[in-house]
Amino acid sequence: MKKIVVVTGAGQGLGYHIVRCHADLHDTVYALDCNITTEIESLAKEYSSLKVYQCDVSSDKEVEESLKDVLREGKQVDVIYNVAGIAKAGGRAGIDKTNMDDCLEMYNVNALGALRVCRVLWPLIEKGSLVMNISSEAGSIGAARRSAMYGYCMSKAAMNMGSKILSNQLWEKDARVMCIYPGWLKTKMGGPEALRSSKSVLPEESAKNIVEIVGNIDSIPRDQMFMSHIGDILPW
Ligand SMILES: NC(=O)c1ccc[n+]([C@@H]2O[C@H](COP(=O)([O-])OP(=O)(O)OC[C@H]3O[C@@H](n4cnc5c(N)ncnc54)[C@H](OP(=O)(O)O)[C@@H]3O)[C@@H](O)[C@H]2O)c1
Repeated sequence: MKKIVVVTGAGQGLGYHIVRCHADLHDTVYALDCNITTEIESLAKEYSSLKVYQCDVSSDKEVEESLKDVLREGKQVDVIYNVAGIAKAGGRAGIDKTNMDDCLEMYNVNALGALRVCRVLWPLIEKGSLVMNISSEAGSIGAARRSAMYGYCMSKAAMNMGSKILSNQLWEKDARVMCIYPGWLKTKMGGPEALRSSKSVLPEESAKNIVEIVGNIDSIPRDQMFMSHIGDILPW
């Protein structure tokens, strides 16, 4: 059955490739990004079921505006992919170089951005809907070994907490939430080292794995909520 899908951070990297996978399946895709790239624009020319919207997930107003068409359609949203994310330099440093403004910005985008989108789409999240929050192993408190990167790690840990509370609230609706670590990606965020490394993963490969997880979601226990794109379970 064709799905209705919303993807943030869809202009490039992982989000773009998730959009591509669903467009190939002829699902209806609403793709949001703060910058509309030529890549996503030309993909939208190939697929009439793909619609692209400018949206900065750190703004209540932009999230509300960009999702007006989805709300007007009034149909259940099957999957919400919260992919939009940032990793600012001042949130990657040790404590002495940590920049609090960068940390606040990351919290706003990485943690609250996903909540904003779900809040607006709340009426369309129904039985069987799935919220896929693209988190990170960096957000795991249980597996934390770093001695820097406060801002980014804390923002993803906050995203995880938001996901758990949302999952509790969605229990009655029989809808669910999953947090996914997409791997170290060969993307703008992954950086030049990721492009060179054999340990990093192409965004198209990670996207394919994630979309497969979505397709098989009923085989995953509902309380298993934090895993990697290849199915490794991560500790909160
Ligand atoms: N890269 C990694 O190794 C890695 C590892 C673990 C988890 N993740 C997570 O995976 C997700 C995707 O990462 P990626 O590597 O694909 O990143 P990416 O290549 O930098 O792409 C992220 C996309 O999100 C957009 N974006 C940023 N802030 C936004 C905002 N406020 N509102 C709307 N869109 C916004 C970016 O737009 P602009 O660039 O035009 O601003 C970009 O198009 C992120 O949530 C990231 O935290 C990544």
